[in-house]
Order: sequence, then C-alpha cells, then structure tokens
Amino acid sequence: MSDYQTLIHTVDVPDNGSVALEMEGVNLLVCNSGGEFVVVENRCSHQDQPLEGGRIRNGYIFCPIHGMRYKLVDGEAVGQLTRVPIKVFDTRVEDGFVQARLLA
Ligand code: FES
Repeated sequence: MSDYQTLIHTVDVPDNGSVALEMEGVNLLVCNSGGEFVVVENRCSHQDQPLEGGRIRNGYIFCPIHGMRYKLVDGEAVGQLTRVPIKVFDTRVEDGFVQARLLA
C-alpha cells in the first residue's frame, strides 16, 4: 500500500525553481534542486510567510522575505532569524511524477 500523493509532473517544476500547490488542505512547495525533488510546506518558520519564489541553490531554499535559508533535505534553518525548521515531506519520483507522503 502506498500513501504517497501524486502532485505534479517533474517537467513542470523548473530547475532550481519551485511550484506552489495545495493538497489536502496543506500548502506545499515542490522544489527542484538541480534535479532533486523535495516537497516542503510552503511556509517560512520565521514569520509564517510563503516560501514560494524563494531562490533555490545547492540544496537550500532562501525565504524571499528576509532571506532565511533552509536545508531542503531536512528543513534545518540556517541563519540568525529562527532555529525552527520547515516541514519536509517524504518525496519520491514515480514515472516522472513527483509524489509526497503528506500524512505523518
Ligand atoms: S518571513 Fe521568511 S525569513 Fe522572515
């Protein structure tokens, strides 16, 4: 049994970019970090602002508001503004589609 949800085709997520979408009431951000796909909650832990539009480089996403940096592999916050990580969902690619497990 699989509890992964299919979210989007990989070709629809630009390299070093992201696409925001909502699934089961959760605001998600599908990130493409140099061909590695990671689904995170679309919410910066500093001031609850969307991470959408944040720059993605070398496995990190930068919040577009104040520039906090989060490690995409585990959500670790890197910077002075907060130590609270962002939520990272188990993510996989199946048949060209990004899938994530949204339930804990
Ligand atoms: S709201 Fe993201 S760093 Fe401040």
